[in-house]
Amino acid sequence: MRAMQIPLDHPLLQRIVDDLAEKGWSQQNGFLPQALTLELAAECRKRAAEGELAPAAVGRGLAQEIREGIRGDHIQWLEEGDAPVCETYMGVMDSLRQAMNRGLFLGLEDFESHFAMYPPGAFYLKHVDRFRDDDRRMVSAVVYLNDAWLPEQGGQLRMYLKDGVEYDVVPTGGSLVVFLSGEVPHEVLPAKRERLSLTGWFRRRGNEPF
Ligand code: OGA
Ligand code: MN
Repeated sequence: MRAMQIPLDHPLLQRIVDDLAEKGWSQQNGFLPQALTLELAAECRKRAAEGELAPAAVGRGLAQEIREGIRGDHIQWLEEGDAPVCETYMGVMDSLRQAMNRGLFLGLEDFESHFAMYPPGAFYLKHVDRFRDDDRRMVSAVVYLNDAWLPEQGGQLRMYLKDGVEYDVVPTGGSLVVFLSGEVPHEVLPAKRERLSLTGWFRRRGNEPF
């Protein structure tokens, strides 16, 4: 599967832009075509099997440390020249970036993304995705790569929305969740099975703090 661009006026992209403007988040089940989801899941599993995923750290720069009591996922950042299936995913996300810039004037300039694998029982405690000393992250985007996920298997993304509302997303393959990185606290609940995703952040220009 190769380059895949979505026309910027596609109704799917328009719905996401409208949701973000109205409420600061959006969930789109079946965002990715099933064939692409399956290929990305296979790529993630292959990397995990080859030992390329590493325990994720919390914090930034020199303060980075691995704390499984905060987050227990294993990740690998995407890079230039990755497998074609990753380029396809990046192309889709770039279409979303452009649609958001057009509709929301966010000035998003790049997108950083990593595979994530949560072993059974792993979780990520409640947090916000924007760092205190680095506010470049504007919009978070998670795409799930798990087939036939059942709610009783856990692993929900729990978002803490306005007015004390909590909203759970079941991490079913192909689903996309996006939210404003600085405004939506969220957590990943422990699951009974391995949980795969691609998580990324659309960023505006800014200076790295150090
Ligand atoms: C993260 C995160 C959510 C998810 O990686 O920062 O919150 O559902 N992920 O995987
Ligand atoms: Mn997060």
